[in-house]
Amino acid sequence: MPRTVAPLQIGPIAVWPPLVLAPMSGVTNRTMRALYKPFGLGLTVTEFVSSNALTYGSKRTLEMIDRHPSERPGSTQLWGDDPATMARAAALVRECGADIVDINFGCPAPKVTKTNGGSACLRDPDRCEAIVRAVVGAVDCPVTVKMRLGWTESDLVYLDVATRAQAAGAAAVTLHARTAKQFYRGSADWRHIAALKRHLDIPVIGNGDLAEAHAAMRSMRESGVDGIMLGRATLGNPWLIAQVADLMEGRSARPDPTPADRLRYCIVHYRTMVEELGERRAVPQMRKHVALYLKGIAGAAALRERMMRIESAAEAIDTIDATIERLENARAA
Ligand SMILES: Cc1cc2nc3c(=O)[nH]c(=O)nc-3n(C[C@H](O)[C@H](O)[C@H](O)COP(=O)(O)O)c2cc1C
Repeated sequence: MPRTVAPLQIGPIAVWPPLVLAPMSGVTNRTMRALYKPFGLGLTVTEFVSSNALTYGSKRTLEMIDRHPSERPGSTQLWGDDPATMARAAALVRECGADIVDINFGCPAPKVTKTNGGSACLRDPDRCEAIVRAVVGAVDCPVTVKMRLGWTESDLVYLDVATRAQAAGAAAVTLHARTAKQFYRGSADWRHIAALKRHLDIPVIGNGDLAEAHAAMRSMRESGVDGIMLGRATLGNPWLIAQVADLMEGRSARPDPTPADRLRYCIVHYRTMVEELGERRAVPQMRKHVALYLKGIAGAAALRERMMRIESAAEAIDTIDATIERLENARAA
């Protein structure tokens, strides 16, 4: 079957398929990325890491830049507002094995923007340019930028900032087509993503609200972007990744998983998290994942509530197992 799209070329790195898992802080840790990668991701990105914390070398921060061996190529994302600190942090993550260094100009969370990091950088395009230039100068691998449209609706700086990033040596730009002030409200406006693609010479990755495989491919085609990034819609449903990858490979998209399929995979996810992080850390982290795998399943609200109180992995897995059995009995009846 002929492929329907070309690889995403980031500097010398050809990413196939041109399908990227969105970095999601507190969610897409190393274990999660390694679990989702075989569904068909071309590229994974670490959760964002503070350039300041990295240069202090905190243990938790160093853990955040650790990647699974299957994550090749792998991108490490940094945030910060100081070009020199960002450059030092970039050199460090490159030394630790990053194939790509990604700069975060998109995070709208107050704990980040109050120190002028993430999307707050978009209020100062000169600073954005200085950060990209400093990071590009500090590493021998491609540097990419992930950004929003601007700080507010009345100040859409994405074309300006992306053009400056390109001039400063960035190898690709990902655009989440919302403003910082929007947080996650409203919807991503893919017309801006198409405009950015027309404006730049370097590859553009489109991001925001892609939730169904055929619609995602349509957004890719209509905007002309070189790659797409999937985020929230993959949580509890990594089959979405496989369905998009199928279409990119020129196959029909595989069918949606059944609720029982999703819960069986939830158990795999649970066990892997316990193995890798230990029960004490895995159980609270898995609560949000289990809630997502339960989405749309009959009786999910009561189950979710119950899972919130469970403190042991064995009990959680038994509860999920019992739910699978209930679903299968109902199906057979
Ligand atoms: C819980 C959560 C954490 C996120 N953390 C990051 C992050 O660390 N770095 C980043 O660039 N974007 C982060 N994002 C934004 C996503 O990467 C993505 O741009 C956004 O969710 C839109 O894509 P989607 O509609 O496919 O989810 C985060 C989003 C969520 C929901």
